[in-house]
Amino acid sequence: MRRIQVGIVGAGPAGLLLAHLLRQEGVEAVVLEAKSREYLETSPHRIRAGVLEHGAKEILRRAGVGDRMLARGLGHKGIYLGFDGQLLHLDFETLVGKGIWVYGQQYLVQDLIRHHLGVGGEVLFEHEAVDLEDLHTPNPTLVYRTPEGRIGRLRCEFVVAADGSHSSFRRFIPGQRVHEKVYPFAWLGILAEAPPAAEELIYASHPQGFALFSMRSPSLSRNYLQVDPRERLEDWPEERIWEELNLRLGGAAEIRPGPLLEKSLTPMRAWVVEPLHSGRFFVMGDAGHVVPPTGAKGLNLALCDAAVLYRAMCAFYKEGEAHLLDRYTQDVLRHVWQAELFSYWMTTLLHTLRDPFEERLRVAKLRHLAESPLLQGFLAENYVGLHTTVRYVDLIPVQP
Ligand code: FAD
Ligand code: DHB
Repeated sequence: MRRIQVGIVGAGPAGLLLAHLLRQEGVEAVVLEAKSREYLETSPHRIRAGVLEHGAKEILRRAGVGDRMLARGLGHKGIYLGFDGQLLHLDFETLVGKGIWVYGQQYLVQDLIRHHLGVGGEVLFEHEAVDLEDLHTPNPTLVYRTPEGRIGRLRCEFVVAADGSHSSFRRFIPGQRVHEKVYPFAWLGILAEAPPAAEELIYASHPQGFALFSMRSPSLSRNYLQVDPRERLEDWPEERIWEELNLRLGGAAEIRPGPLLEKSLTPMRAWVVEPLHSGRFFVMGDAGHVVPPTGAKGLNLALCDAAVLYRAMCAFYKEGEAHLLDRYTQDVLRHVWQAELFSYWMTTLLHTLRDPFEERLRVAKLRHLAESPLLQGFLAENYVGLHTTVRYVDLIPVQP
Protein backbone atom coordinates (compact mmCIF):
# COMPACT_ATOMS: atom_id res chain seq x y z
CA MET A 1 0.00 0.00 0.00
CA ARG A 2 1.31 3.48 -0.86
CA ARG A 3 2.40 5.60 2.12
CA ILE A 4 2.23 9.40 2.08
CA GLN A 5 2.36 12.16 4.64
CA VAL A 6 -0.91 14.05 4.07
CA GLY A 7 -3.99 12.77 2.23
CA ILE A 8 -6.48 15.49 1.26
CA VAL A 9 -10.05 14.83 0.10
CA GLY A 10 -11.28 17.52 -2.31
CA ALA A 11 -9.60 19.84 -4.83
CA GLY A 12 -11.52 22.98 -3.92
CA PRO A 13 -9.76 26.17 -2.80
CA ALA A 14 -9.15 24.76 0.73
CA GLY A 15 -7.63 21.43 -0.31
CA LEU A 16 -5.58 22.83 -3.18
CA LEU A 17 -4.10 25.72 -1.20
CA LEU A 18 -3.11 23.43 1.68
CA ALA A 19 -1.54 20.90 -0.70
CA HIS A 20 0.38 23.63 -2.51
CA LEU A 21 1.71 25.27 0.67
CA LEU A 22 2.79 21.89 2.10
CA ARG A 23 4.48 20.91 -1.14
CA GLN A 24 6.61 24.04 -0.96
CA GLU A 25 7.85 22.87 2.46
CA GLY A 26 8.69 19.43 1.11
CA VAL A 27 5.72 17.70 2.77
CA GLU A 28 4.17 15.09 0.48
CA ALA A 29 0.44 15.71 0.07
CA VAL A 30 -1.87 13.89 -2.33
CA VAL A 31 -5.26 15.35 -3.24
CA LEU A 32 -8.13 13.01 -4.17
CA GLU A 33 -10.84 14.72 -6.26
CA ALA A 34 -14.08 13.00 -7.31
CA LYS A 35 -14.67 15.16 -10.41
CA SER A 36 -12.60 15.62 -13.56
CA ARG A 37 -10.21 18.55 -14.00
CA GLU A 38 -12.37 19.80 -16.86
CA TYR A 39 -15.48 19.81 -14.66
CA LEU A 40 -13.79 21.81 -11.90
CA GLU A 41 -12.33 24.30 -14.37
CA THR A 42 -15.25 24.84 -16.75
CA SER A 43 -18.59 23.57 -15.41
CA PRO A 44 -21.13 26.37 -14.91
CA HIS A 45 -22.02 24.59 -11.62
CA ARG A 46 -18.62 25.60 -10.24
CA ILE A 47 -18.77 29.38 -10.85
CA ARG A 48 -19.57 30.19 -7.20
CA ALA A 49 -17.87 33.00 -5.28
CA GLY A 50 -16.27 36.20 -6.55
CA VAL A 51 -14.91 38.37 -3.73
CA LEU A 52 -11.46 37.91 -2.21
CA GLU A 53 -10.69 39.73 1.00
CA HIS A 54 -7.56 41.85 1.10
CA GLY A 55 -5.79 39.10 3.07
CA ALA A 56 -6.93 36.36 0.68
CA LYS A 57 -5.34 38.20 -2.22
CA GLU A 58 -2.12 38.56 -0.20
CA ILE A 59 -2.07 34.89 0.87
CA LEU A 60 -2.49 33.76 -2.74
CA ARG A 61 0.15 36.18 -3.96
CA ARG A 62 2.62 35.00 -1.31
CA ALA A 63 1.85 31.35 -2.13
CA GLY A 64 3.02 32.05 -5.68
CA VAL A 65 -0.36 31.39 -7.35
CA GLY A 66 -1.45 35.00 -7.84
CA ASP A 67 -0.03 35.93 -11.25
CA ARG A 68 -3.28 35.80 -13.23
CA MET A 69 -5.36 36.98 -10.26
CA LEU A 70 -3.27 40.16 -10.07
CA ALA A 71 -3.32 40.67 -13.85
CA ARG A 72 -7.03 40.01 -14.42
CA GLY A 73 -8.76 40.61 -11.09
CA LEU A 74 -10.39 43.92 -10.23
CA GLY A 75 -9.26 45.91 -7.20
CA HIS A 76 -12.21 47.60 -5.47
CA LYS A 77 -11.89 50.31 -2.84
CA GLY A 78 -15.36 49.63 -1.42
CA ILE A 79 -18.97 48.74 -2.16
CA TYR A 80 -22.24 50.57 -2.73
CA LEU A 81 -25.33 50.16 -0.61
CA GLY A 82 -28.52 50.86 -2.58
CA PHE A 83 -31.67 51.82 -0.69
CA ASP A 84 -34.42 54.45 -0.74
CA GLY A 85 -33.54 55.04 -4.44
CA GLN A 86 -30.00 56.23 -3.67
CA LEU A 87 -26.50 54.75 -3.68
CA LEU A 88 -24.29 55.11 -0.62
CA HIS A 89 -20.61 54.45 -1.25
CA LEU A 90 -18.67 52.82 1.58
CA ASP A 91 -15.01 53.54 0.95
CA PHE A 92 -13.18 50.74 2.77
CA GLU A 93 -9.78 52.22 2.05
CA THR A 94 -10.76 55.40 3.87
CA LEU A 95 -12.56 53.51 6.65
CA VAL A 96 -10.00 50.78 7.37
CA GLY A 97 -7.11 51.29 4.96
CA LYS A 98 -7.73 48.17 2.84
CA GLY A 99 -9.83 47.13 -0.14
CA ILE A 100 -11.04 43.90 -1.76
CA TRP A 101 -10.25 41.97 -4.92
CA VAL A 102 -12.91 40.70 -7.34
CA TYR A 103 -11.83 37.45 -8.98
CA GLY A 104 -13.96 34.39 -9.75
CA GLN A 105 -13.50 31.23 -7.68
CA GLN A 106 -13.39 29.07 -10.80
CA TYR A 107 -10.44 31.05 -12.17
CA LEU A 108 -8.75 30.70 -8.79
CA VAL A 109 -9.21 26.92 -8.82
CA GLN A 110 -7.72 26.82 -12.35
CA ASP A 111 -4.72 28.81 -11.09
CA LEU A 112 -4.21 26.60 -8.03
CA ILE A 113 -4.36 23.42 -10.14
CA ARG A 114 -1.98 24.79 -12.78
CA HIS A 115 0.59 26.00 -10.26
CA HIS A 116 0.36 22.92 -8.07
CA LEU A 117 0.78 20.47 -10.95
CA GLY A 118 3.51 22.76 -12.33
CA VAL A 119 5.71 22.17 -9.25
CA GLY A 120 5.10 18.41 -9.33
CA GLY A 121 2.12 18.36 -6.95
CA GLU A 122 -0.28 15.44 -7.18
CA VAL A 123 -4.02 15.75 -7.72
CA LEU A 124 -5.79 12.49 -8.57
CA PHE A 125 -8.84 13.65 -10.55
CA GLU A 126 -11.87 11.35 -10.84
CA HIS A 127 -10.68 9.52 -7.72
CA GLU A 128 -13.51 9.53 -5.21
CA ALA A 129 -12.58 9.03 -1.57
CA VAL A 130 -15.05 6.50 -0.16
CA ASP A 131 -13.88 5.54 3.33
CA LEU A 132 -11.46 6.23 6.15
CA GLU A 133 -9.86 3.30 7.97
CA ASP A 134 -7.66 3.12 11.09
CA LEU A 135 -8.75 6.62 12.09
CA HIS A 136 -7.40 6.50 15.63
CA THR A 137 -3.99 5.12 14.78
CA PRO A 138 -0.81 6.96 13.68
CA ASN A 139 -1.69 5.94 10.10
CA PRO A 140 -5.26 6.74 9.08
CA THR A 141 -5.91 5.23 5.67
CA LEU A 142 -7.92 6.77 2.85
CA VAL A 143 -9.89 4.39 0.66
CA TYR A 144 -10.72 5.60 -2.84
CA ARG A 145 -12.28 4.46 -6.09
CA THR A 146 -10.38 4.96 -9.36
CA PRO A 147 -12.09 6.03 -12.62
CA GLU A 148 -11.96 2.34 -13.66
CA GLY A 149 -13.84 1.34 -10.50
CA ARG A 150 -10.86 -0.21 -8.70
CA ILE A 151 -10.47 0.34 -4.95
CA GLY A 152 -7.16 1.79 -3.75
CA ARG A 153 -5.70 2.83 -0.39
CA LEU A 154 -3.38 5.62 0.78
CA ARG A 155 -1.76 5.11 4.15
CA CYS A 156 -1.35 8.63 5.57
CA GLU A 157 0.16 10.37 8.57
CA PHE A 158 -2.68 12.92 8.43
CA VAL A 159 -6.02 12.94 6.60
CA VAL A 160 -7.79 16.19 5.73
CA ALA A 161 -11.43 16.40 4.62
CA ALA A 162 -11.86 19.43 2.34
CA ASP A 163 -14.77 17.87 0.50
CA GLY A 164 -17.19 20.79 0.47
CA SER A 165 -20.62 21.45 1.96
CA HIS A 166 -21.98 18.01 1.04
CA SER A 167 -19.00 16.40 2.78
CA SER A 168 -19.33 12.69 3.41
CA PHE A 169 -16.10 12.68 5.44
CA ARG A 170 -16.98 15.02 8.29
CA ARG A 171 -19.02 12.13 9.74
CA PHE A 172 -15.72 10.64 10.89
CA ILE A 173 -15.37 13.26 13.65
CA PRO A 174 -16.68 11.41 16.72
CA GLY A 175 -19.01 13.17 19.15
CA GLN A 176 -19.54 16.15 16.87
CA ARG A 177 -22.28 18.74 17.26
CA VAL A 178 -23.71 20.74 14.37
CA HIS A 179 -24.94 24.29 15.10
CA GLU A 180 -27.32 25.24 12.33
CA LYS A 181 -29.44 28.16 11.16
CA VAL A 182 -31.78 28.03 8.19
CA TYR A 183 -32.51 31.45 6.71
CA PRO A 184 -35.95 31.86 5.10
CA PHE A 185 -34.42 32.99 1.76
CA ALA A 186 -32.71 31.65 -1.33
CA TRP A 187 -30.57 33.45 -3.91
CA LEU A 188 -31.31 33.26 -7.60
CA GLY A 189 -27.93 33.89 -9.26
CA ILE A 190 -27.14 34.71 -12.87
CA LEU A 191 -23.99 35.15 -14.89
CA ALA A 192 -24.65 37.35 -17.94
CA GLU A 193 -22.76 38.79 -20.88
CA ALA A 194 -23.61 42.32 -19.83
CA PRO A 195 -21.62 45.23 -18.42
CA PRO A 196 -21.89 45.49 -14.60
CA ALA A 197 -24.32 48.04 -13.13
CA ALA A 198 -21.47 49.99 -11.50
CA GLU A 199 -17.68 49.86 -11.24
CA GLU A 200 -18.02 48.34 -7.74
CA LEU A 201 -20.53 45.91 -6.19
CA ILE A 202 -23.99 47.17 -5.28
CA TYR A 203 -25.85 45.55 -2.36
CA ALA A 204 -29.40 46.81 -2.91
CA SER A 205 -32.19 46.67 -0.34
CA HIS A 206 -35.72 47.06 -1.71
CA PRO A 207 -39.14 46.36 -0.12
CA GLN A 208 -39.59 43.64 -2.78
CA GLY A 209 -36.34 41.95 -1.74
CA PHE A 210 -32.55 42.17 -1.79
CA ALA A 211 -30.50 42.27 -5.01
CA LEU A 212 -26.74 42.09 -5.50
CA PHE A 213 -24.93 43.47 -8.54
CA SER A 214 -21.51 41.94 -8.90
CA MET A 215 -19.20 41.10 -11.78
CA ARG A 216 -16.46 38.90 -13.14
CA SER A 217 -15.02 41.39 -15.67
CA PRO A 218 -15.99 44.71 -17.31
CA SER A 219 -18.24 42.74 -19.69
CA LEU A 220 -19.54 39.94 -17.40
CA SER A 221 -22.15 40.59 -14.72
CA ARG A 222 -22.88 38.31 -11.76
CA ASN A 223 -26.18 39.30 -10.16
CA TYR A 224 -28.36 37.80 -7.44
CA LEU A 225 -31.98 38.18 -6.30
CA GLN A 226 -33.47 37.27 -2.93
CA VAL A 227 -36.26 34.77 -3.61
CA ASP A 228 -38.43 32.47 -1.57
CA PRO A 229 -36.69 29.10 -1.00
CA ARG A 230 -39.73 27.34 -2.55
CA GLU A 231 -39.34 29.16 -5.90
CA ARG A 232 -38.41 27.16 -8.99
CA LEU A 233 -35.87 28.25 -11.62
CA GLU A 234 -38.36 27.64 -14.44
CA ASP A 235 -40.58 30.38 -13.00
CA TRP A 236 -37.80 32.89 -13.66
CA PRO A 237 -37.40 33.49 -17.43
CA GLU A 238 -34.67 35.95 -18.46
CA GLU A 239 -37.03 38.85 -18.93
CA ARG A 240 -38.49 38.51 -15.42
CA ILE A 241 -35.03 38.40 -13.86
CA TRP A 242 -33.90 41.64 -15.56
CA GLU A 243 -37.18 43.37 -14.71
CA GLU A 244 -36.82 42.41 -11.07
CA LEU A 245 -33.15 43.44 -10.93
CA ASN A 246 -34.10 46.83 -12.39
CA LEU A 247 -36.93 47.30 -9.95
CA ARG A 248 -34.82 46.46 -6.90
CA LEU A 249 -32.04 48.78 -8.01
CA GLY A 250 -34.69 51.50 -7.71
CA GLY A 251 -33.30 53.77 -10.45
CA ALA A 252 -30.05 54.27 -8.53
CA ALA A 253 -28.00 53.01 -11.51
CA GLU A 254 -28.64 51.69 -14.99
CA ILE A 255 -28.46 48.04 -15.95
CA ARG A 256 -28.10 46.81 -19.49
CA PRO A 257 -29.40 43.25 -19.93
CA GLY A 258 -27.43 40.65 -21.89
CA PRO A 259 -27.59 36.91 -22.61
CA LEU A 260 -27.53 34.62 -19.55
CA LEU A 261 -24.66 32.13 -19.33
CA GLU A 262 -25.81 30.52 -16.08
CA LYS A 263 -28.76 30.55 -13.70
CA SER A 264 -28.87 28.89 -10.27
CA LEU A 265 -30.79 28.77 -6.99
CA THR A 266 -28.94 28.57 -3.65
CA PRO A 267 -30.85 28.14 -0.38
CA MET A 268 -29.36 30.14 2.49
CA ARG A 269 -28.13 28.17 5.44
CA ALA A 270 -25.42 28.40 8.04
CA TRP A 271 -23.91 25.65 10.13
CA VAL A 272 -20.74 24.92 12.04
CA VAL A 273 -19.44 21.49 13.07
CA GLU A 274 -17.67 21.30 16.41
CA PRO A 275 -15.04 19.98 16.89
CA LEU A 276 -13.25 20.19 13.54
CA HIS A 277 -10.57 17.61 14.21
CA SER A 278 -10.01 14.31 15.93
CA GLY A 279 -6.55 12.80 16.35
CA ARG A 280 -4.90 12.89 12.94
CA PHE A 281 -8.06 13.78 11.02
CA PHE A 282 -8.95 17.41 10.16
CA VAL A 283 -11.92 19.07 8.46
CA MET A 284 -11.48 22.30 6.45
CA GLY A 285 -13.62 24.81 4.53
CA ASP A 286 -17.26 24.18 3.62
CA ALA A 287 -16.99 20.60 4.89
CA GLY A 288 -16.87 22.03 8.41
CA HIS A 289 -18.79 25.28 8.22
CA VAL A 290 -21.10 27.13 5.87
CA VAL A 291 -22.16 30.80 5.88
CA PRO A 292 -24.93 32.51 3.91
CA PRO A 293 -23.34 34.23 0.88
CA THR A 294 -24.29 37.83 1.78
CA GLY A 295 -20.96 38.65 3.44
CA ALA A 296 -18.92 36.91 0.67
CA LYS A 297 -17.05 34.89 3.30
CA GLY A 298 -17.26 31.17 2.30
CA LEU A 299 -14.25 31.04 0.01
CA ASN A 300 -12.21 33.33 2.26
CA LEU A 301 -12.86 31.08 5.28
CA ALA A 302 -11.69 28.06 3.30
CA LEU A 303 -8.37 29.86 2.69
CA CYS A 304 -8.10 30.80 6.40
CA ASP A 305 -8.47 27.15 7.43
CA ALA A 306 -5.82 26.07 4.94
CA ALA A 307 -3.40 28.70 6.33
CA VAL A 308 -4.02 27.60 9.95
CA LEU A 309 -3.58 23.89 9.19
CA TYR A 310 -0.50 24.59 7.07
CA ARG A 311 1.13 26.41 9.99
CA ALA A 312 0.24 23.59 12.39
CA MET A 313 1.55 20.88 10.06
CA CYS A 314 4.76 22.82 9.42
CA ALA A 315 5.34 23.09 13.18
CA PHE A 316 4.85 19.32 13.41
CA TYR A 317 7.09 18.35 10.50
CA LYS A 318 9.81 21.01 10.97
CA GLU A 319 9.96 21.34 14.77
CA GLY A 320 8.30 18.13 16.00
CA GLU A 321 5.78 20.38 17.76
CA ALA A 322 2.15 19.10 17.91
CA HIS A 323 0.46 21.77 20.02
CA LEU A 324 -0.82 23.80 17.05
CA LEU A 325 -2.44 20.66 15.64
CA ASP A 326 -4.18 20.13 18.99
CA ARG A 327 -5.45 23.72 18.87
CA TYR A 328 -6.77 23.49 15.28
CA THR A 329 -10.49 23.51 16.18
CA GLN A 330 -10.06 26.36 18.65
CA ASP A 331 -8.06 28.50 16.20
CA VAL A 332 -10.41 27.90 13.26
CA LEU A 333 -13.60 28.50 15.24
CA ARG A 334 -12.41 32.00 16.06
CA HIS A 335 -12.49 33.21 12.44
CA VAL A 336 -15.47 30.99 11.59
CA TRP A 337 -17.76 32.46 14.27
CA GLN A 338 -16.63 36.00 13.43
CA ALA A 339 -17.65 35.34 9.81
CA GLU A 340 -20.95 33.73 10.90
CA LEU A 341 -21.65 36.87 12.93
CA PHE A 342 -20.88 39.21 10.05
CA SER A 343 -22.80 37.10 7.50
CA TYR A 344 -25.81 37.04 9.83
CA TRP A 345 -25.55 40.82 10.29
CA MET A 346 -25.33 41.49 6.54
CA THR A 347 -28.09 39.00 5.72
CA THR A 348 -30.56 40.42 8.22
CA LEU A 349 -29.60 43.99 7.28
CA LEU A 350 -30.25 43.56 3.57
CA HIS A 351 -32.97 40.94 3.04
CA THR A 352 -36.61 41.91 3.25
CA LEU A 353 -38.10 40.23 6.32
CA ARG A 354 -41.64 38.85 6.67
CA ASP A 355 -42.25 39.99 10.24
CA PRO A 356 -43.38 43.68 10.12
CA PHE A 357 -41.64 44.53 13.41
CA GLU A 358 -38.36 42.96 12.32
CA GLU A 359 -38.68 44.67 8.93
CA ARG A 360 -38.99 48.10 10.56
CA LEU A 361 -35.98 47.40 12.76
CA ARG A 362 -34.06 46.42 9.64
CA VAL A 363 -34.84 49.69 7.86
CA ALA A 364 -33.80 51.60 11.01
CA LYS A 365 -30.53 49.66 11.05
CA LEU A 366 -29.87 50.55 7.40
CA ARG A 367 -30.51 54.26 8.00
CA HIS A 368 -28.33 54.17 11.10
CA LEU A 369 -25.54 52.62 9.05
CA ALA A 370 -25.87 55.37 6.41
CA GLU A 371 -25.24 58.00 9.09
CA SER A 372 -22.75 56.28 11.37
CA PRO A 373 -19.04 56.10 10.45
CA LEU A 374 -18.61 53.71 13.41
CA LEU A 375 -21.09 51.19 11.99
CA GLN A 376 -19.57 51.66 8.53
CA GLY A 377 -16.20 50.81 10.10
CA PHE A 378 -17.67 47.57 11.52
CA LEU A 379 -18.92 46.60 8.06
CA ALA A 380 -15.66 47.59 6.36
CA GLU A 381 -13.31 45.77 8.75
CA ASN A 382 -15.33 42.58 8.43
CA TYR A 383 -15.82 42.82 4.67
CA VAL A 384 -12.10 43.30 3.89
CA GLY A 385 -11.28 40.50 6.35
CA LEU A 386 -9.35 42.10 9.23
CA HIS A 387 -10.59 39.25 11.50
CA THR A 388 -10.29 36.49 8.91
CA THR A 389 -7.65 36.24 6.14
CA VAL A 390 -5.74 39.39 7.12
CA ARG A 391 -4.86 37.67 10.43
CA TYR A 392 -3.04 34.89 8.57
CA VAL A 393 -1.07 36.63 5.82
CA ASP A 394 2.16 36.55 7.81
CA LEU A 395 1.97 32.77 8.18
CA ILE A 396 2.63 32.35 4.48
CA PRO A 397 6.24 32.69 3.36
CA VAL A 398 6.73 34.72 0.18
CA GLN A 399 7.59 32.49 -2.76
CA PRO A 400 10.35 33.88 -4.96
P1 FAD B 1 -15.42 23.15 -2.43
O1 FAD B 1 -15.03 24.28 -3.28
O2 FAD B 1 -16.84 22.73 -2.43
O3 FAD B 1 -14.50 21.91 -2.86
C1 FAD B 1 -14.74 20.60 -2.40
C2 FAD B 1 -14.22 19.61 -3.44
O4 FAD B 1 -14.30 18.29 -2.89
C3 FAD B 1 -15.04 19.59 -4.71
O5 FAD B 1 -14.21 19.77 -5.83
C4 FAD B 1 -15.71 18.22 -4.72
O6 FAD B 1 -15.88 17.70 -6.03
C5 FAD B 1 -14.70 17.41 -3.92
N1 FAD B 1 -15.25 16.20 -3.27
C6 FAD B 1 -16.41 16.09 -2.57
N2 FAD B 1 -16.53 14.84 -2.09
C7 FAD B 1 -15.43 14.15 -2.48
C8 FAD B 1 -14.98 12.80 -2.29
N3 FAD B 1 -15.69 11.92 -1.56
N4 FAD B 1 -13.81 12.42 -2.84
C9 FAD B 1 -13.07 13.31 -3.56
N5 FAD B 1 -13.45 14.59 -3.78
C10 FAD B 1 -14.60 15.01 -3.24
N6 FAD B 1 -19.13 31.81 -1.36
C11 FAD B 1 -19.01 33.11 -1.43
O7 FAD B 1 -18.17 33.68 -0.70
N7 FAD B 1 -19.77 33.82 -2.32
C12 FAD B 1 -20.68 33.19 -3.18
O8 FAD B 1 -21.32 33.83 -3.98
C13 FAD B 1 -20.82 31.82 -3.12
N8 FAD B 1 -21.69 31.16 -3.95
C14 FAD B 1 -21.78 29.79 -3.85
C15 FAD B 1 -22.68 29.09 -4.68
C16 FAD B 1 -22.80 27.69 -4.59
C17 FAD B 1 -23.77 26.94 -5.48
C18 FAD B 1 -22.01 26.99 -3.65
C19 FAD B 1 -22.10 25.47 -3.54
C20 FAD B 1 -21.12 27.70 -2.85
C21 FAD B 1 -21.00 29.10 -2.93
N9 FAD B 1 -20.12 29.83 -2.11
C22 FAD B 1 -20.01 31.15 -2.18
C23 FAD B 1 -19.29 29.22 -1.14
C24 FAD B 1 -17.88 28.99 -1.66
O9 FAD B 1 -17.94 28.64 -3.01
C25 FAD B 1 -17.31 27.92 -0.78
O10 FAD B 1 -17.21 28.46 0.53
C26 FAD B 1 -15.97 27.38 -1.24
O11 FAD B 1 -16.12 26.67 -2.45
C27 FAD B 1 -15.39 26.46 -0.17
O12 FAD B 1 -14.26 25.81 -0.66
P2 FAD B 1 -13.92 24.34 -0.22
O13 FAD B 1 -12.56 24.08 -0.78
O14 FAD B 1 -14.15 24.18 1.22
O15 FAD B 1 -15.02 23.39 -0.90
C1 DHB C 1 -20.43 37.61 -5.09
C2 DHB C 1 -21.06 36.73 -4.26
C3 DHB C 1 -21.38 37.11 -2.98
O1 DHB C 1 -21.98 36.26 -2.15
C4 DHB C 1 -21.09 38.37 -2.53
O2 DHB C 1 -21.46 38.73 -1.27
C5 DHB C 1 -20.46 39.26 -3.35
C6 DHB C 1 -20.12 38.87 -4.65
C7 DHB C 1 -20.07 37.20 -6.48
O3 DHB C 1 -20.38 36.07 -6.86
O4 DHB C 1 -19.50 38.02 -7.21
